[in-house]
Parts: sequence; structure tokens; C-alpha cells
Amino acid sequence: MELPNRIPPLENALSLLSWLQIKFVKLGNHINAEKIGNFISQIEDLMDKIDEMELLHRGEELKNLLDCLNEITKDEIRIDDVQIESLQSILSKLTKGPFYRRRTLIEEAEIKRRVNELAEILRKELDPYNTIVLGVLRGSIFFMVDLLRALDMPLRFDFVDAKSYGDRMDSSKDVKLNRLEKLDLKNKIVLIVEDIVDTGHTMKALTEFVRSQGPEKIITCVLIDKHERREVEVTIDHYGFQVQEGFLVGYGLDYADRYRCLPAIYILEPISE
Ligand code: IMP
Ligand code: MG
Repeated sequence: MELPNRIPPLENALSLLSWLQIKFVKLGNHINAEKIGNFISQIEDLMDKIDEMELLHRGEELKNLLDCLNEITKDEIRIDDVQIESLQSILSKLTKGPFYRRRTLIEEAEIKRRVNELAEILRKELDPYNTIVLGVLRGSIFFMVDLLRALDMPLRFDFVDAKSYGDRMDSSKDVKLNRLEKLDLKNKIVLIVEDIVDTGHTMKALTEFVRSQGPEKIITCVLIDKHERREVEVTIDHYGFQVQEGFLVGYGLDYADRYRCLPAIYILEPISE
């Protein structure tokens, strides 16, 4: 097996593990029990630390690594000092931050209350027989579904796919819209439902597209309005909450596609060692 050029992120810990396994098996000298013991206790310390940080998936990946190392060292496998050092350096790179702690920003009950309020307002603006609710994949789905249920009207809905972030925490500004072919928005009231408006580039691209389809009216409803970070002007008709700064996850919001399923909204705070 080829050694990866870059240390894989923790998400790929399993591929790292199989690499380690092969490495171990190929080693020549007698195992140094004391050193490998130190190494394992280092990992254990790290796991405790990481669990405290509430980054549970990282904790889990590290646990896999630890279990595997324990398994390997049960057998009479030989390892030399250089290998121990290289393992330690891999581990230190692997576990290098930035790490984030989640802090609850908006409780589940608070979201629910606000969604009901928004539904009350929107119900007066929507004609159920001439409206398309357009959700933005994938961040808006939890908000959209809860909002639709609270609206309790015979509404039609559809989805558009918008991408700009990838695994980053800042907008790439280059917004790609997909799933546009089948949308029929002409002369409709289009309610755009989005998770969060940050720089505004995504919402701008979306409203421009919708406008080009000749709707009767566009209404925008976003769960979170990061008003202060706006780079381009967009019209937000309704918002759930205004938040000044920070990267948020949960209730549809993701970081690198994780944390969407958390029930509340959390802010990721960087942890300095
Ligand atoms: P904008 O184009 O900068 O306004 O960003 C909008 C998109 O970026 C949203 O649809 C989200 O998917 C994503 N985004 C912006 N801020 C956050 C955040 O704090 N957490 C998760 N996703 C975010
Ligand atoms: Mg989004």
C-alpha cells in the first residue's frame, strides 16, 4: 500500500489504520514495550481531551486507532525507534487543530416557537393554490419541513441545489445552482426558504435565477440572517434569527457536511491548546 502524501484527516482514519497495520507488520526489530506503552497513553490522553471538546466523531476515530494499536501490540510484532517517532509525528499532525467546541446558541424549543411565528406571518402572504415553496438543498431541509408543517396549507414545494462552501468556513462566492430544469415558477408566488444568509452571494444568485423565470412574486424566508457579514445586497423578507458572527451548525447547518442532524443551533468556537 502506498503511503499517502498528506496525512489523511481523521475522517479517513480507517485508511490510515490499514496503512499503519501494514507498516507494523513489515517492521524488523523487537517491539519496545515501554515506548509503545507511552505512545498508547498519549493517544488516550488525547482522546479524553477530544471528548471533552465534544468533537465526538473525532473521539470515535481516535478510539478506532487506539483499539487497532492495542490489537497490533498484543502480537509479537517488532517495531523500531524510528517507526515509533514517525507514528508520533503522524499522530501529532493528525490531531492538530484547529479544534472547535460546540456551544448551544439557539435551543430547540426556541427554534420551534420562532418557526410557528413565521408560519403565522407567511400564511397571510401565501396563496396555497399559486405558491411554490422552494427549499435550498441541503441546509434548509429541517427548517423547510418544520415550516411547511406549521403552515398547514395545501402548498406545493420543490428544491434547488446551491453550493458555494465545500469544506470551507468562508464563502467561495462562486455559487453553483443545480436541479433547475424541472422548476416551473412562471406566474407563481415563489417562497425561497434558506438556512442562512451570510455574504448574500447564494441568495443573490437564487433570486436572480427565480426572477428570470417570470414569477408573480418572490418572498424570501431565512432561518438565520448574518446581516453584518453581507457583501452583496439581497432582500430578506422574513428571518428567524439574526446572528452577528461565528460559524453555526445544527438544524440543517453543516460544517463539511457534518452536524446537520443536531436538533438545536450551535456555534463552533475555536479552542486554543
Ligand atoms: P452566502 O452565500 O455567503 O450568503 O452563504 C450562504 C450559504 O453558506 C448558506 O446557504 C450556507 O449553506 C452556508 N453558510 C453560511 N454561513 C454558515 C454557517 O455559519 N454555518 C453553516 N453554513 C453556513
Ligand atoms: Mg445552504
